[in-house]
Amino acid sequence: MSSRSELRPGSLAPAAKLSAGKTSVLIGRGLLAGVPLPERGALLYDAGLPDSWSAALPALEQRLAVPAGEQAKTLAVYEQVLRRLADWALPRGAELLAVGGGCTTDLAGFVAATYLRGVALRLIPTTLLAMVDAAVGGKTALNLPEGKNLVGAFWPPEAVYIDPLLLSTLPEAAFKDGQVEMFKHGLLDGAAWPGRFFSPEDVASEQLERAITASVTFKAGVVARDPQERSGLRAQLNLGHTLGHALEAWSGHRLSHGQAVALGLHFMALLSEALGGSGVASETAALLRWLRPPLLCPPELAPLLPWMARDKKADLQGLRFTLLRAPGQPYLERVPQGLLASTYAAFLRSSAQLGLV
Ligand code: GLY
Repeated sequence: MSSRSELRPGSLAPAAKLSAGKTSVLIGRGLLAGVPLPERGALLYDAGLPDSWSAALPALEQRLAVPAGEQAKTLAVYEQVLRRLADWALPRGAELLAVGGGCTTDLAGFVAATYLRGVALRLIPTTLLAMVDAAVGGKTALNLPEGKNLVGAFWPPEAVYIDPLLLSTLPEAAFKDGQVEMFKHGLLDGAAWPGRFFSPEDVASEQLERAITASVTFKAGVVARDPQERSGLRAQLNLGHTLGHALEAWSGHRLSHGQAVALGLHFMALLSEALGGSGVASETAALLRWLRPPLLCPPELAPLLPWMARDKKADLQGLRFTLLRAPGQPYLERVPQGLLASTYAAFLRSSAQLGLV
C-alpha cells in the first residue's frame, strides 16, 4: 500500500469524525472546501455532476471525468482510467481522489485497488446513498454483462469526506433512494433512524447532518467488526436486498435501487413476522406510503427465483435471508420455498392495499 496523505488537523472542521476499520470518515456541512489535496495524485469525478460543480472540485491538474451511473462500472471504462493513469506516469505513492455517486466510488475503488497493485484512495461521495452506504466500507465493484458487481475487491479508502451540503443539487428521487438505506440501517440498529423522512429543503439542516452521522456510525461499526463479510455480520446489511435486487433486475432497472429495496424491506418484514418476529411491518408500510414505488413485481415469485439465487448470501445449501426478530435484532435464516411463495402473495396484497400500483 502506498503512503497515506496526511489529514492536516485543523484544515477541516468536521462535525463528526469516526472510523470504519482503517478509514477515517469525516462528516460536516461545508467540508468539501477544506479537503486536503494530495502531493501527487489524480482526480476522478462523476460526469453527471452539474456544471455548477466544476469550480468546487478539488484543484488537481490530472483529472478525468467518468461516465455517470452504472456506465462507469464497465471493464472498458476501467481500462480507460488505468491507461490514463499510466499515461500520466502516476507513481505508486500517488493518491486517487474520487468525487461522485456510488458508481464513481465503486469504480475508483477498484482502480485504486489494482493500479500498480494498489494506491491510496480518498472519497468524496455526492449522493446520499453513497454517503451512508457505498463509499463507506471498502467494497469496490465493476459489472459484467452476466451481472452486477461480479468483479471487485475490498480496498478501504484512507478517508471519506461527507458534506451534506453537496446534496443540494441531488435530484429528489435520488435523495429519497438514499433515505431507504438510512431507514434500513435504523431497522438493523434499532436506533439509527431519526424517525422521520427528509425533503430536499432539509439539506442544510443540522437534523439531516445528525441523521447521516448516526447512519454512517452504524455502518462503520459493522464494517469494523466484519470488514470482509466473513463472519456473517456484514451480510446483515443486505436486509431487504434479496428480494430488492431481484426486483431491480427483473424490472430492467425501471425500479431504482431504493424503490426495489423499500419493497424488499416490506417483504422482509412480512417474512420475519411469519417466522415469529415482532413486527416492523407497520414501519415498512410507512416507508412504502412515503416513497410510493411502482409495484413493478411479477404476480408469482417464480420469475424472481433465478435472480434471488445470485444473492451473495446464498451458499451451497441455497438461499438465506436477513430477517429481524425485532428492530436491532437481525439474523440470517434459510426459508422454505413454500413460505417464500405465500409471503410473496401476502406482500403483493399488502402493497396493493397501501395503494401501490
Ligand atoms: N452495502 C452493503 C455493504 O457495504 O456491505
